[in-house]
Amino acid sequence: MTDRIVSGMRPTGKLHFGHYLGVIQNWVELQHKYESFFFVADWHALTTKYDKTETLRKDVIDVVIDWLSCGINPEISTIYVQSLIPEIAELNVYLGMITPQNWVERDPCLKDMAKILRSKDGAASQINYGLMGYPVLMSADIMMFNSNYVPVGIDQVAHIEITRDIARRFNNIYKTDFFAEPKPLLNNCSLICGLDGNKMGKSFHNDIKISDTEEVTAKRVMTAITDRSRMRKDDPGHPDECEVAFKYWQIFGDKDKVQKIRCECEKGLRGCADCKRELGKTINEYFAPIREKRAYYEAHPKEVEDIIQSGSAKARTEAQRIIKEVRHIIGMY
Ligand code: TRP
Ligand code: SF4
Repeated sequence: MTDRIVSGMRPTGKLHFGHYLGVIQNWVELQHKYESFFFVADWHALTTKYDKTETLRKDVIDVVIDWLSCGINPEISTIYVQSLIPEIAELNVYLGMITPQNWVERDPCLKDMAKILRSKDGAASQINYGLMGYPVLMSADIMMFNSNYVPVGIDQVAHIEITRDIARRFNNIYKTDFFAEPKPLLNNCSLICGLDGNKMGKSFHNDIKISDTEEVTAKRVMTAITDRSRMRKDDPGHPDECEVAFKYWQIFGDKDKVQKIRCECEKGLRGCADCKRELGKTINEYFAPIREKRAYYEAHPKEVEDIIQSGSAKARTEAQRIIKEVRHIIGMY
């Protein structure tokens, strides 16, 4: 039997290059090797944005459109929306019963989220019960499909550790070996930084979206940080200290090109503005096929809706099979 993977993303709206290079590209490869379940975690979005739901529906659709455009294939992967699988909520209840409170309290991911929340809203912000349950709900996502592996970024590993603990505890309490202890599948791609050199993120306004136009992309690339010590365009540059632009070249350019740029930069034969203009073009070429597909799906919303509905129906059938077994194992009526 092929191993299974489950992974999800919160519906943050249109995705940026960081999502593509850090997560989606990995999924696109993995889908050929594993039976794959990819979902939009709209309940997880509510843990912090329960009062900002005006764009939630659109954000879910945008995420799915980005996935499809990047090459997640609905013929081989199951794409679904978390809240369309009520069995996940039921499993969340069972897992909540067997999870000691201090397991969630010491979850470092949750601690970080709480810190960010407090820094935004000050002391007024309370951590709601749902947010405390974030790691349990995430365990329910993964265990709902009895997944063996979970492809995630390094920042999510602590969550997967809790899932393993919960799965083991379930098996111990109910004297079963029903649940696998899922392992994280870390990808080896390097993280792309934002245009200002910090971590790329929507809220930092240092990102480029997969859905941005070529003009916007080109303009955004011109703002990328370069070698700060360089004053004039014929000064010798230091590609390794070129904080963002050269790093992008290493991601999007081929080897020979990168070598050529390094040489020209070091000899002072290449100005940063020209360099970034060319980089913008290269990035636009890289994303052209993805953006073409994106335009197609934008123009065919019915097709996207069908993919979401049929993927969710398929996921639900499997979830119903599993929850039935879980109810039996626990001894529910
Ligand atoms: N917490 C993940 C994130 O913020 C999203 C997520 C929710 C997830 N449930 C999951 C990822 C289950 C993997 C498996 O990115
Ligand atoms: Fe960076 Fe290119 Fe400027 Fe060199 S020429 S510092 S590689 S942007």
